[in-house]
Amino acid sequence: MSSLSGKTGLVVGVANKRSIAWAVAQAASAAGARLALTYQGERLEENVRELSAGLTDPLVLPLDVTDDAQIARVFEELDRSFGGLDFLVHGAAYAPREELSNPFVQTTREGFRMALDVSAYSLIALSRAALPLMEKRGGGSILTFSYLGSDRVFPNYNVMGVAKAALESTVRYLAADLGPKNVRVNAISAGPIKTLAAAGIGGFSTILQVYRDRAPLRRTVDTSEVADAAMFLLTDAGRAVTAEVLMVDGGYHATGM
Ligand SMILES: NC(=O)c1ccc[n+]([C@@H]2O[C@H](COP(=O)([O-])OP(=O)(O)OC[C@H]3O[C@@H](n4cnc5c(N)ncnc54)[C@H](O)[C@@H]3O)[C@@H](O)[C@H]2O)c1
Repeated sequence: MSSLSGKTGLVVGVANKRSIAWAVAQAASAAGARLALTYQGERLEENVRELSAGLTDPLVLPLDVTDDAQIARVFEELDRSFGGLDFLVHGAAYAPREELSNPFVQTTREGFRMALDVSAYSLIALSRAALPLMEKRGGGSILTFSYLGSDRVFPNYNVMGVAKAALESTVRYLAADLGPKNVRVNAISAGPIKTLAAAGIGGFSTILQVYRDRAPLRRTVDTSEVADAAMFLLTDAGRAVTAEVLMVDGGYHATGM
């Protein structure tokens, strides 16, 4: 029996085939899960529909994580179609482009608000909506994605670093809150990968080169490697792990210089 057979999951954050969330969706589907995928706005609908055509009986739904009414609709549909939920993959993050190139001291109030709303608060909103469906299954696993910029300064990561610090703290508070209901909450802190979101960060290719030069494994990571780690956290293999930020970065986080 596959590790996620008979399980259902919601995957938020697929933009295209390079998305980390798409690699996780593929791995979860291969492990036997039935999935719902969401897309943010009509611009991305075609991409997500085309990708999910290869999955078994997927649900494809619109979701902007800043819109509480859309969140409610997604979970109503999940309840109707799946009758419960075993896991949630949260791969949404955003900061206005200028916040990722201007000096950090120029961070605007609105840019800060948007980055924290989309990239951190949304995990709370989605977890709250997922909870009753996970309780129907006797528990669940929630997973989000962070970056070392939460803790260390990387050029141009700026307000996204602040949002990731809030996200990692949110993981711990949610884990404490939902643990008694057997719902686990974890993050993977991935090494840098060329995705749509990464393209917005000025000088991103320099960051990639620094990892190739200095990470213990002397290379960057790819989305399939993040997905393999995600399978550990989403399946029973990780049943005793919660409130964790798992580094999947070739060991870069351990380097001093
Ligand atoms: N690529 C990297 O180097 C890297 C490293 C560590 C962590 N991460 C994190 O991984 C996660 C996935 O990013 P990715 O690199 O796969 O890029 P991506 O661009 O493929 O995915 C980001 C997703 O966020 C979604 N999103 C943005 N605003 C949204 C909103 N208001 N409502 C709903 N969805 C919204 C986008 O539609 C997109 O699907 C993000 O949290 C990112 O910060 C990425």
